[in-house]
Amino acid sequence: MTRALILGGTADASLLAAEFARAGLDAVYSYGGRTRAPADQPLPTRIGGFGGVSGLADYIGCEGITHVIDATHPFAAEMSRNAVEACAETGTPLIALERAPWAAAPGDNWIEVADVNAAAAALPEAPAIVFLAIGRQHIAPFVAKPQHTYTLRFVDPPETPLPFPADVIVSRGPFTLDGELEMMRTRGITWIVARNSGGDGARAKVDAARMLGLPVIMISRPRLPERLRVESVAEIMQWLGHRTCLGA
Ligand SMILES: NC(=O)c1ccc[n+]([C@@H]2O[C@H](COP(=O)([O-])OP(=O)(O)OC[C@H]3O[C@@H](n4cnc5c(N)ncnc54)[C@H](OP(=O)(O)O)[C@@H]3O)[C@@H](O)[C@H]2O)c1
Repeated sequence: MTRALILGGTADASLLAAEFARAGLDAVYSYGGRTRAPADQPLPTRIGGFGGVSGLADYIGCEGITHVIDATHPFAAEMSRNAVEACAETGTPLIALERAPWAAAPGDNWIEVADVNAAAAALPEAPAIVFLAIGRQHIAPFVAKPQHTYTLRFVDPPETPLPFPADVIVSRGPFTLDGELEMMRTRGITWIVARNSGGDGARAKVDAARMLGLPVIMISRPRLPERLRVESVAEIMQWLGHRTCLGA
C-alpha cells in the first residue's frame, strides 16, 4: 500500500496535493510552518520541522510512509538535504518535484551570483532603489549597503523590527506582469535582487524588469545532492504507478 509524504510549501505542492486527493491516494502534506495562515490542503496536513534527519527518519517509520515527494521551494536546501539522507537511511523512495530554473532571455540584464552575500556585494555603490525579492530570513547581508532604498515583499507582516529601514509590501503571490510593472514604476525601482525559483508564479517580476530595462541580480540555486527529479505532477503520478487526469 502506498502512503506518501509531500514536503510542501509551494504552488506545485498544492497542485500535487489536489491530484493526490482526486486519485484517492493516502498521503500526508507537510508545511515548514513559515507562514501564519498556510493554504488549506485537501489532504491530512502537518505543520513544522521534523527535527533534522533523524526526526524525519523516525516520522517516516512511525507513519508508515512508503514514498517521499520533495516539493519544497528550490531554495529550501536544508529540508531537501535532510530528505535525501533520511530516505537513504530508511530505504524510502524519494523524488523531487522541481521546476527548471529560469534562463536569461534576450533583453534580460542579469548578474548571476552564487548566494545572498554575493548579491549584496553586487549592488552598486551609488544609491539605488532596490526591490529585494527574497525571503525575510535572507535580508541581513544588505545591512552592509545602507545607501540604498529597499522595497521588500513578504507573505506576512514582519513580527520583529527589520535590520534596516524598508518599504514593506505584504502580499501573497502569484503576481501578475501588470501588477509588477505598476509596483516597480510607482516606487521608481532601479535594481532587483531575486532568487532563481523557476516556474510561472514568481516569473512576472523578471519579465517586468526586462520590459523596464532594469538590472536583476539573480541568485543561483543552492547545490543539492543527486536525487530523482521531475518537473510535473503527471510524472509524480507515473512514478507512483497512477494515471493522472492533469495535463501538468
Ligand atoms: N512558495 C515559496 O515561494 C516559498 C519560498 C521559500 C520557502 N518556501 C517553503 O517554506 C518552507 C521553509 O523553507 P526554508 O527555506 O526555511 O527551508 P529550509 O531552510 O530548507 O528548512 C529549514 C528547516 O525547516 C523545516 N522545514 C522546511 N520545510 C519543511 C516542510 N515542508 N515540512 C516540514 N518541515 C520543513 C525543516 O526542519 P527540521 O530540520 O526540524 O525537519 C528544515 O530543516 C519550505 O516548505 C519551502 O517549500 C516556499
